[in-house]
Amino acid sequence: MNQSVTVRVPAKINLQLAVGPLRADGYHDLVTVFHAVDLCDEVTVARADQDADRVTVSGVGAGQVPADGDNLAMRAVRALRARTGLGGNVQVQITKRIPVAAGMAGGSADAAGALVACDELWGTALPAAELSALAAQLGSDVPFALLGGTAVGRGRGEQLSPVESTATYHWVLAYADGGLSTPLVYKTLDQLRDGRGVPAPELSGELVEALRAGDPLRLGRALGNDLQAPALTLFPALNETLEAGRALGSLGALVSGSGPTCFFLARDAEHAASLTAQLGKAGVCQSVATVTGPAAGASVADRRA
Ligand code: C5P
Repeated sequence: MNQSVTVRVPAKINLQLAVGPLRADGYHDLVTVFHAVDLCDEVTVARADQDADRVTVSGVGAGQVPADGDNLAMRAVRALRARTGLGGNVQVQITKRIPVAAGMAGGSADAAGALVACDELWGTALPAAELSALAAQLGSDVPFALLGGTAVGRGRGEQLSPVESTATYHWVLAYADGGLSTPLVYKTLDQLRDGRGVPAPELSGELVEALRAGDPLRLGRALGNDLQAPALTLFPALNETLEAGRALGSLGALVSGSGPTCFFLARDAEHAASLTAQLGKAGVCQSVATVTGPAAGASVADRRA
């Protein structure tokens, strides 16, 4: 019997994020193209002889993550236990590499990691569709963190269909000095739209074609994010970050999700390395990272008996 399981879970960027009107339940209907990148948090869940679940968080931005029952990974543990009736108390250990409140679904990744780790530790063997439904109750981006790869998300982002994607893409991430609240970015979008009729969101055919063809030039031109305008309103310094990436010859430049992380598409690994070095020197962001995608979804990295 395993005593602990470690799961690695990727961050995401949104290659397209088309946002429809505000729904009665406070969410927005979306059409989005999620893309997992090889920047991963690690979630270890261990059996623990204690009176309650406990969590510790270390790594990038750990101080900003709640280390109590409100932690999304802890909510995932309780949700799986309630759903299956299995499992004793656990010790959850989260090692963060995905920046917090950065538009890269780091919290969602930790929830997905905890679901996969507990499923393995407790032997619940929940079918993928049921695990995904449980994930959707925890947050709109959690099902994609389970799936990984590249996928179209509809509804509030939880209804997924994988996109055929042959190539590996090289991305440069520019981390901002500070975070953005996702609900505030959506609210600001509604305010910018000022009650004007908002059409139903539509998938970009050009983006899907570019992915099928594995053509970074076309992909760069087809990137789009309706949350970019409100993110720029709330965080005007990002204009400079995006402009610097464009001027340095990136194939596409976009705010990731609700921001404030910006991402840039490079031609290849060499171009990504040079973009990373130059953006780092330009003084337009807090720090820079190079990643590739698509990356696998939440997967077991280690088991300890
Ligand atoms: O689902 P999640 O808890 O991650 O969503 C956080 C917030 O983002 C929601 O409370 C809502 O304000 C906003 N949101 C939205 N429409 C979506 C997804 C998220 O308005 N499709």
